[in-house]
Amino acid sequence: MNILLLGSGGRECALAWKIKQSPKTDRLYIAPGNAGTASIGTNVEISATDFDALGRFAVENRVDMVVVGPEDPLVKGIYDYFNDHDELKHIPVIGPSKEGARLEGSKEFAKGFMMRHHIPTARYQSFTRENLDAAYAFLETLKAPYVLKADGLAAGKGVLIIDNLQEAKAELKQMLDGMFGSASETVVIEEFLSGIECSVFVLTDGNDYRILPVAKDYKRIGEGDTGLNTGGMGAVSPVPFADATFMQKVEERIVKPTIEGLKAEKITYKGFIFLGLINVGGEPMVIEYNVRMGDPETEVVMLRIQSDLVDLLEGVAQGNLREKELVEDPRSAVTVMLVSGGYPGHYEKGKEITGLDRVTESIPFHAGTAFKEGKIVTNGGRVIALSSYGATKEEALARSFKSAQVVSFEGKYFRSDIGADL
Ligand code: AMP
Ligand code: GLY
Repeated sequence: MNILLLGSGGRECALAWKIKQSPKTDRLYIAPGNAGTASIGTNVEISATDFDALGRFAVENRVDMVVVGPEDPLVKGIYDYFNDHDELKHIPVIGPSKEGARLEGSKEFAKGFMMRHHIPTARYQSFTRENLDAAYAFLETLKAPYVLKADGLAAGKGVLIIDNLQEAKAELKQMLDGMFGSASETVVIEEFLSGIECSVFVLTDGNDYRILPVAKDYKRIGEGDTGLNTGGMGAVSPVPFADATFMQKVEERIVKPTIEGLKAEKITYKGFIFLGLINVGGEPMVIEYNVRMGDPETEVVMLRIQSDLVDLLEGVAQGNLREKELVEDPRSAVTVMLVSGGYPGHYEKGKEITGLDRVTESIPFHAGTAFKEGKIVTNGGRVIALSSYGATKEEALARSFKSAQVVSFEGKYFRSDIGADL
């Protein structure tokens, strides 16, 4: 099979690594990819949201399947685009329809969906500029801290958690006045949930599903989970608190009603569902849905899938996932993200990366890298995800931290406490 993978981050590098291992894979193209994916498959200089160009490329290069990494093309409707064009119809796109992508594209839609299908989540109401007074009144019924969420996509920055009521009201007004552009024309206000988070990934063909290995990511820039939010500084899998009892609850209360709810609402969904969960006193609740794999969770989840991923994706495309097996690797997997100095604020790009050839105990998944004058250079805030296996989490971490010393570039930073809280 010829596969076209969309995206350019660490997630896509890990997906490419896993897809390439399948005996079913002939050609693997990555659009646009990075310096890491270039050594796994063939990079194609097309943006992941340029549907016309992707469609032409797919026809010309006899692509048999499109695997979508990031949410953007999904929210913009790449599934429907392929489905609506006669020459592209036969090429399955792994990902939800535009309607299904609203689970991530609109927080209000996601909350409404959870209400309709009795899926446990924080109590909420949503508001626009027209009912600011009602929004203030709702805030007054809640206890601090206050959670304000822009309805639309805001590059991962649309959630504010505020301790003080007056400040929450002021921020709310600013959001409704366009702090995140049109994404915050509607704001979801919700009750704060206290607990520890984990990421559960589900692969579905619209009827059946498989639950992938569970992971936990580390979002803050600073050690001890302090400082600004980032795209993710590391991840571990498995997650000790997500034991069989917890996962049974996740499956019965969240996974099954989600799949059934999509079916009942006639929403086409053949792809990954990312459940951002929080463990509140042993009870799983949904913080958010995403319609793609997580980054950097993918950089550990792919290590923990023993089965052929392409075979599973074929099951999704053909609607026979029921017949496919998902075997987990019993080992632990961790990833430690090397980031550019200054990230998630201002940082410089184009710094030469050295030492990658001396990494022997980890898999270096490229996140933000590029080629410049024959050298591999930094090209983003998150640069390299160093993923390792171990008999235990500690063993895997020791390998990733060792590799983190070996790889070097000006301004390199990483968190040395990944997994330490578990
Ligand atoms: P989201 O973009 O929805 O994932 O929100 C970003 C982060 O905000 C989440 O990963 C949580 O850490 C936090 N968060 C969101 N909603 C809540 C909530 N209701 N209670 C507590 N923390 C939350
Ligand atoms: N690691 C969280 C995300 O991918 O959204």
